[in-house]
Order: sequence, then C-alpha cells, then structure tokens
Amino acid sequence: MTLDLEMEEKQTVSSEQVTGPDRKMERPKVRTEALNAWYGTNHVLKNLSLDMSEHAITAIIGPSGCGKSTFIRCLNRMHELVPHAKTSGKVILDNTDIYSRGIDAVSIRRKVGMVFQKPNPFPTMSVYDNVAAGLKLNGMKNLEKLDRAVKRSLEQAALWDEVRNSLFKSGMSLSGGQQQRLCIARALAVEPEVILMDEPCSALDPIATAKIEGLMTNLKEQYTVVIVTHNMQQAARVADYTAFLYLGELIEYGETTQLFENPKNELTERYITGKFG
Ligand SMILES: Nc1ncnc2c1ncn2[C@@H]1O[C@H](COP(=O)(O)OP(=O)(O)OP(=O)(O)O)[C@@H](O)[C@H]1O
Ligand SMILES: [Mg+2]
Repeated sequence: MTLDLEMEEKQTVSSEQVTGPDRKMERPKVRTEALNAWYGTNHVLKNLSLDMSEHAITAIIGPSGCGKSTFIRCLNRMHELVPHAKTSGKVILDNTDIYSRGIDAVSIRRKVGMVFQKPNPFPTMSVYDNVAAGLKLNGMKNLEKLDRAVKRSLEQAALWDEVRNSLFKSGMSLSGGQQQRLCIARALAVEPEVILMDEPCSALDPIATAKIEGLMTNLKEQYTVVIVTHNMQQAARVADYTAFLYLGELIEYGETTQLFENPKNELTERYITGKFG
C-alpha cells in the first residue's frame, strides 16, 4: 500500500455522509445503520450505514483486510460465531433489526443465505443430499417435495443439466465451478430472501466465473444479492450498486457506473485505478 497517512486522513469520510446511493432508495431490503464490528478490541467496521436494494446486486469492494467479509457476515449474524466478536448498531431486514432482542439468529441465517469463497460441499454427501441437507434439517421429509426442491434449486443455480444424471455421485466429484454452483443451489434450497456471496469466483477460471456471473444476474430477479469481490471488472459487470470500503469505513457508495466512471472521492479513484490495494 502506497498511501500516505496525510492523504488517508484527508480522504476518510464520516460514514454518516454516505448512507446510500441515494437516500431515497425506495425499498431497501437490508439496511445497516451505524454498524460497528469488533474482534476483541480490534475495531474493524466503523459506523457503516448502507442501504441494499431488493432485486439488485450490491458489490462490496476494497483492499484486503478492510472489512468486506466481516461486513457481510454481520448481515446474517455469522460474525457473532467468532469468539470475542461483537457488533453495535442496526442491521434492518425489511422492518426488523436482526440484532434486536428475541430474534433467533438461526432463522435469520435461513432468510439470509451465504456462499463462501471456496466451494465447500459437504464432503461425504451426494449432489442431491448437499442440496437437500438444509431442507431435511428444517424437517422436510416428503420425498416428492424434496425431489422438486432439489431440482428447482439446481435449475436456479444453472447446474441441473450438468448433474441430472449424476445426482447420487459425491458432491466432491464435481469440478470447482460446478461445486460452487452446488453450494449456490444449497443456499437457494431453503428459499432465502437475501444471498450473500463472499468472493464466490476467486477460485474459478474465467468460464466458470462467467457462469456464476450470469447466474447472479438471474438471481437478482428474485433475491437481494450482496457480493464481495476483489475483481473490479466483476463489480463493474454485474453490480447495480457498489460500495467502497477502506480501513473499516464506507468511503463511497453509488450506482456502479457512477462509482467507476465518476468517483466522488479521491481514495475511490485511486483504488479503482489500481494505485493501491
Ligand atoms: N476471525 C477473526 N478473528 C480476528 N480477527 C479477524 C477475523 N476475521 C477477520 N479479522 C480481522 O478483521 C479485519 C477485517 O477482516 P475481513 O476478513 O473482514 O477483511 P476483508 O476485507 O474481507 O479482507 P480480504 O479481502 O483479505 O478477504 C482484518 O484486520 C482481519 O485481520
Ligand atoms: Mg474477505
């Protein structure tokens, strides 16, 4: 990182100034209000206020360690699974603060699904069981219903045609790109409302990446999609809105074309033109 401290101080903006691409976003599906997160005493997210729209893809970009993964893990209460991790502020899903008293974290994780950087199918399970696992856990026993849900999820994940004749092979026997789509199918099976994806293509080749990107674009018709990506071209290709984080702060948030073509903040400009990262 070549950034000097003086520049850092000048450019770091109070997050109150950058709540959303426009404050009038009609119906944000998820919004954070002054969200802070810590690991022990390490304060890694600072007052993030961000509206994420329904039926849109929001990309989170920023240099390594700036808090992107932490941010999305706060959106489905996975952050608290880390010992000594804590949060303050609000994460509002529809009209409910998911951190308010009496809200069950497991039910939030069902509504807000997550796909990770490395494809992580359950290693001992077949393709079918990987997709059905969450439904079975939720108590679905009817085989016809399970079959239908597995097919629907694999279709949505653009994998059905490739695995329809090998549903009972191990999930691990698939290629990396197929495994990632299997993990997406697994996340979709329980019918979430929001899908979080943490660098879902970083382990994939360009063809598999293109498939996942096409899939994301289809998914936004039905879901709210939030992705973390290191790949600026990917954000520019798929995201409707892009948020730039730096050292745990939200520096700029806007419509993707505006942020990439006409960034308002000099730090954003320096980052997207590859001057640091
Ligand atoms: N499980 C953890 N325990 C302690 N500190 C953590 C943990 N996970 C992340 N951190 C710290 O929190 C900060 C933000 O990390 P985070 O993983 O959210 O960054 P990131 O933007 O996703 O980075 P990358 O692009 O490398 O994935 C870093 O300083 C990191 O060291
Ligand atoms: Mg990360």
